[in-house]
Amino acid sequence: METVVSGIRSTGKLHLGNYYGALSNFVKMQDEYNCFFFIADLHSLTTHPTPQDLQKTVRNVVVEYLAAGIDPEKSTIYVQSDVPEVAELYLYMNMNAYLGELERATAFKDKVRSNPDNVNAGLLTYPTLMACDILIHHGTKVPVGKDQEQHLEMTRTFGNRFNRLYDVDYFKEAFAFSYSDKLVKIPGLAGQGKMGKSNGEADCIYLSDSEAVIRKKVMRAVSDGGPTEENQPKPDAIQNLFDLMKVVSAEDTYAHFDNLYNTCNIRYGDFKKQLAEDMVLATEPVRSRIEFIAGDDEYIAKVARLGAEKASESARKTVKEVREIIGLKKLF
Ligand code: TYM
Repeated sequence: METVVSGIRSTGKLHLGNYYGALSNFVKMQDEYNCFFFIADLHSLTTHPTPQDLQKTVRNVVVEYLAAGIDPEKSTIYVQSDVPEVAELYLYMNMNAYLGELERATAFKDKVRSNPDNVNAGLLTYPTLMACDILIHHGTKVPVGKDQEQHLEMTRTFGNRFNRLYDVDYFKEAFAFSYSDKLVKIPGLAGQGKMGKSNGEADCIYLSDSEAVIRKKVMRAVSDGGPTEENQPKPDAIQNLFDLMKVVSAEDTYAHFDNLYNTCNIRYGDFKKQLAEDMVLATEPVRSRIEFIAGDDEYIAKVARLGAEKASESARKTVKEVREIIGLKKLF
């Protein structure tokens, strides 16, 4: 059976981008594959959260994983830092990750541009740690959104380079995965690119947002004065809302509003109202379970403990074998 590995950083509440890009696929994959789903708390250290915030957000991601339907009986759910072997593998793999290729990573370049005062080494070597998350369990399928595609390419580069350097056939190639034919990129409500916290709160619909909050955010989403000519291309902000509708609404609802747009008969108020109602419906099953699970400390602790045990077993085996391949054998 193929092994699936993926994670989400513990940076706060999960939004629709995380859900459609990653989490919804996690849930579907657990019936078919050997799955490891973790909370990437080490990756979130690049932005220096306070210890209190870190604790809170890690717990929150566990809760939202469970609320979305990841079943700890089928999948291994664990917190990345509970498996310190990954940090050891990261040290070894950093020895053959080169500065030039790390600097060329799009996500790194974006971070340098948006936050030039915090270009730390952890940010630079983010792709090495991510590769190790996958390689440590010999994962071959990695459910992620479009923005992670390059990191998967780098994972293959690092694994293959290790194999060549030590003349072994040890690490397998891992590929980004989505059930749809393309990797998903969920746009935000602020009229810019993909949905993300860095574009501000108003850009994101969180899985934990109440119905009223969802409606308010959608009604306030960036739009324009409406089309002035039939069949004119949609400006980015409008295209984003249509893309969101494609994800959460029925096909005929989308076709109906697309036709209204193309014939210059669309009323954005009606369009947004429909989009908001369909978002409320799409998120309802997760939202209703978040509160319920969040109150159960014992269950959350049990899931994390069990997951840490299972993930550690797999990770220990890999690190032991890697040490042998490298030549780090004990003299005593
Ligand atoms: P993070 O926390 O930034 O994102 C978690 C997942 O959500 C997806 N995602 C989106 N997908 C579509 N549209 C969006 N607007 C959107 N926003 C976020 C991301 O593609 C990702 O799948 N580096 C990873 C965390 C990680 C990881 C790993 C993933 C660390 N190690 C090993 C897989 C395997 C990340 O992007 O986290």
